[in-house]
Amino acid sequence: MSISTNTAGLAGIVAGQTALSTVGKEGAGLTYRGYSIEDLAEHAIFEEVAWLLLYGELPKQLELDAFLARLQSQRGLPAQLKAVLAQLPESAHPMDVLRTACSALGCLEPEHSAADQFRVAERLLAIFPSALAYWHHFARSGNRIDTESPEPTMAGHFLHLLHGVQPSAEHRRALDASFTLYAEHEFNASTFAARVTASTLSDMYSAITSGIGTLRGPLHGGANEQAMELIERFTDPDHAEQGVLTALSRKEKIMGFGHRVYRDRDPRSDVIKEWSRRLSQAAGDAQLFAISERIEQVLRREKKLFPNLDFYAASAYRFLGIPTLLFTPLFVFARTAGWAAHVIEQRADNRLIRPTADYIGPSTRPFRPIVQR
Ligand code: COA
Repeated sequence: MSISTNTAGLAGIVAGQTALSTVGKEGAGLTYRGYSIEDLAEHAIFEEVAWLLLYGELPKQLELDAFLARLQSQRGLPAQLKAVLAQLPESAHPMDVLRTACSALGCLEPEHSAADQFRVAERLLAIFPSALAYWHHFARSGNRIDTESPEPTMAGHFLHLLHGVQPSAEHRRALDASFTLYAEHEFNASTFAARVTASTLSDMYSAITSGIGTLRGPLHGGANEQAMELIERFTDPDHAEQGVLTALSRKEKIMGFGHRVYRDRDPRSDVIKEWSRRLSQAAGDAQLFAISERIEQVLRREKKLFPNLDFYAASAYRFLGIPTLLFTPLFVFARTAGWAAHVIEQRADNRLIRPTADYIGPSTRPFRPIVQR
């Protein structure tokens, strides 16, 4: 077996160092700067987690208050960005909209130097929910929404802009917890892409745009949308069991299951599953959660596969009234904290990321011009 086969997808390759998180580490599990994901999802709001990732320690109350106020004051969209968003058709994928918004903002409010990196990171965290909600409403109804809201947190703000009403405390908390779960995950594909971009000494916007483009695919962030499409195909748990067995017999992948690093469970899934169960009960749902649980049972029984964060995030987001195509963009809102923290970490001790490849093409051969000149 060649070296390239062994390292396909860089599986198991240590590609650098980070002080931001541990993923599936023996005795630690998933931690952000030493704090367990279970504690953070239960006791912290997303903005505390974002601060922890960006600035290294959990914020003190005064720091958190100032951070929330700063983010709230940064939610407005520049007129040129509104004009760009208004040009994007309703048929555009919302991930493409966010990627474009990020890129356009990089033209309007460029990062002048690495000293600017925290300002840009905070601006992107603040503006993404507004940009997506603005485009979402404008593309569907021509309605130019006001992107301000009285909500202090990103979760409350987005739900408010999406639905046009104040969200319930439970909905706010559920979305907030999902943001914490999505905020950071070591050298996953999109973070690695962002770090590669940063390693060329490119700017923060370019790095985050790389991250968004990489997250979009169904093997990564796009899995939550595909999981929802699968769950919604079925009318009841027995129907789901048959459908999944058929898909497996055709060797199809079931999105929202399996993981490159975790071997037997994704700790984030337990937290989001509990939220999905709570929201399902509150919504009086008779089927969606039961169908999801049956799919989980079949995958465990047939393939020893376990749900990752994306699987139960799908039903949780459905109970929050979020359209399926906005699921992966919500992942972007949260992961921007992790991406930006990784860019900052990469820059602090940078070396160009540039691996090599095993060449498997034709041997050296003479060039024969079509026309003799
Ligand atoms: N459904 C069905 N089979 C799956 C599967 C899934 N979700 N995930 C892995 N498998 C199977 C593969 O078909 C493969 O079987 P084989 O050895 O018989 O060919 C084996 O498990 C190994 O999978 P592979 O894709 O090579 O593992 P990976 O480490 O490269 O991939 C993922 C990890 C996450 C990309 C993969 O599990 C996957 O595609 N999951 C679905 C997408 C998803 O949920 N992504 C979000 C991740 S957080």
